Amino acid sequence: MAIRRIAVITSGGDAPGMNAAIRAVTRKAISKGITVYGYEKGFQGIIDDLKVQLDLSSVGGIIDRGGTFLGTARSEEFMTKDGQQKAIKNLKNNNIDAIIVIGGDGSYRGAEVIDESGIPAIGVPGSIDNDIAGTEITIGFDTAINTATDAISKLRDTASAHERIFVVEVMGRNTGMIALYSGLAGGADYVVIPEHPYNISEICNVVNRGFDRGKLHSIIVIAEGVMGAQTFAGELAECVGSEIKISVLGHIQRGGMPSAMDRVLASRLGAAAVSFLLEKKRRIAVGIYGSEIIWSTLEYAYSNKRYVDKSLADLANVLAI
Ligand code: F6P
Repeated sequence: MAIRRIAVITSGGDAPGMNAAIRAVTRKAISKGITVYGYEKGFQGIIDDLKVQLDLSSVGGIIDRGGTFLGTARSEEFMTKDGQQKAIKNLKNNNIDAIIVIGGDGSYRGAEVIDESGIPAIGVPGSIDNDIAGTEITIGFDTAINTATDAISKLRDTASAHERIFVVEVMGRNTGMIALYSGLAGGADYVVIPEHPYNISEICNVVNRGFDRGKLHSIIVIAEGVMGAQTFAGELAECVGSEIKISVLGHIQRGGMPSAMDRVLASRLGAAAVSFLLEKKRRIAVGIYGSEIIWSTLEYAYSNKRYVDKSLADLANVLAI
């Protein structure tokens, strides 16, 4: 079947660069004579039929904007059979020939449900967590680690001024990707990630050794997936015997102007999704490996665990000595 009308949504947690991806999908599709509809608020917006036609200028001036101008949601209703049927019915009533879903692994599962109904679906990896298989990097990760790194540098200034210990909690759901990269880039004294067990006395020794050799600060970066920063800081305080300050960076890591890397990535992946659709591919997720655009099945992308390179944590810990 020829592809004449496609839908695009952003779903799950927003990520910087999602707007650039919508822009790329829209402009690439229009250049191929395809009509593009954006649905607001992700899968929930399909259920509620919140459809807007996107033309060349509706995606103008958004490449550098954080968030997603279509809005996003974690739709509970779409998790139900009833919600899924409503969404599929709306897509069919609107003669949508295919859909491009920009989001994370949960969004890919939703895309697969739509594909199973006969409407081809393609996923584009958008998540600050960089936790999706089938791509080396996700849209939003680069911006998020820059935000976190910037925050760590600022915290280091004040930590040094007071000779304090800081535990900095970064996002990442169940993975330590943001912690690893921002910890290494921010010169953290130790990085704690969920993928590897930590030893509190080892961290305690690192902190004490640092102060003994004249360091003015100690920064421990912990991924949110390990445990709450409060609990961890409590354990560490008991061991080092001094007060510990806690900073939970939270949602600031999700916002802000996307980095140039994220804009380029989003532009390439968004356009590639349209090209793959035109090649009659479906039920796949686009990705990047090195500088090459790749694809994998949606199922592969959402059911495989992302490999986390522990050597980065080891390197951060060695370099902080
Ligand atoms: O997946 C992106 C992310 O920011 C995770 O790092 C975090 O665990 C989660 O979303 C927070 O979700 P919400 O904004 O729905 O609380």
